[in-house]
Amino acid sequence: MKLITLKTPSMEGKIYIGKDVLKARLPELTKGQKNFVLTDSNVYALYENLLKTYFSDTEIFVLPAGEEHKNFQSLYAILEKMTGAGLHRSSRLFAVGGGVVGDIGGLAAALYMRGISCVQIPTTLLAQVDSSVGGKTAVDLGGVKNIVGAFYQPVEVLIDPTFLTTLPAREIKCGVGEIVKYCAISSKIFDEIESNLENLTDLAFLEGLIYDSVEHKARVVEADEKELGERRSLNVGHTTGHAIELTSGLSHGESVLYGMRLETRMALAAGVCEEEYGKRLLKIVEKAIALLPCAPVDFSNMEEDAKKARSDKKNADDGLIKMAVAKKKGEWTMFALPFDEYQKRLVEVK
Ligand code: NAD
Ligand code: GLY
Repeated sequence: MKLITLKTPSMEGKIYIGKDVLKARLPELTKGQKNFVLTDSNVYALYENLLKTYFSDTEIFVLPAGEEHKNFQSLYAILEKMTGAGLHRSSRLFAVGGGVVGDIGGLAAALYMRGISCVQIPTTLLAQVDSSVGGKTAVDLGGVKNIVGAFYQPVEVLIDPTFLTTLPAREIKCGVGEIVKYCAISSKIFDEIESNLENLTDLAFLEGLIYDSVEHKARVVEADEKELGERRSLNVGHTTGHAIELTSGLSHGESVLYGMRLETRMALAAGVCEEEYGKRLLKIVEKAIALLPCAPVDFSNMEEDAKKARSDKKNADDGLIKMAVAKKKGEWTMFALPFDEYQKRLVEVK
């Protein structure tokens, strides 16, 4: 079992990674107080016995699976159940699932009694390499993703790669989207992936990448918890990616990959990204996209996608569309364009 610590002004969080993490940590974490488990219907169907073993006599709330349930109605239902369960200040909420469960569970923990401990147990690749770490919690509202939320750090994150053995192939590939993002900001992860492109969905290879991705993210979050500077690097591909996610129906990870492709092409065309390196990065992105079993996306209506990028949280009220893009190996930069220019260039590179 490996341990990574993540220190922020409010918390020293611990991230444990390994096949024995639940056994090693859950008996201690569940002892002595009332707890609450949030999971989703798919995870519950697969892991009901495991959950009942570790969380006996504990309220287990099963959210219907899917991004469409990451909303206020679900949050309200969860908080109502927490209140009914008589949780108190020392209670813990365990969020066992993918990014949807983690995001909404983290927000419920932040709100209940102005904040109870949250333990993240991510069960998708995307959640293990990204969303369970760093304390971003949120729900979607009015068609805008993650627009209502809080920064609220989990006390512990327990990452057990065994969960990935039941993950459908498409979800593994979605997680690869968030891993490939790290190539644009970490030389180490870039080298590892570039020299192992054929192993990109191999579970044994991914286990090492989970550790490296989390370690990188932990250092970024320590430096800039509230995303005023360095943490923006974690949004590579996300400005256009979020827009694609809203218009295409693709998953988050898939959309980030397409967003990375378009934004890297725009950065290359504008001379913002070094040419030789940008082409190598694009090769990795293309390889990851080729692994996706979904039909190619219809990019014929990029003007509409561009409009969705306007609602992205990174864009202040200055009319600029802001993108975190790769600059050279291990370096990134913000690339901002007026909306009309962004729309035009997006159509050119699609
Ligand atoms: P998800 O939570 O919807 O999970 C994907 C699917 O996999 C679901 O159907 C789920 O039921 C199923 N599943 C989960 N674990 C499983 C397992 N072990 N075996 C079989 N099936 C399993 O989606 P996701 O891709 O994990 O996360 C996407 C969400 O994460 C989005 O809402 C996105 O906004 C959010 N996100 C948050 C952050 C952050 O920093 N907080 C970062 C990236 C993404
Ligand atoms: N997933 C981006 C972040 O945590 O900042």
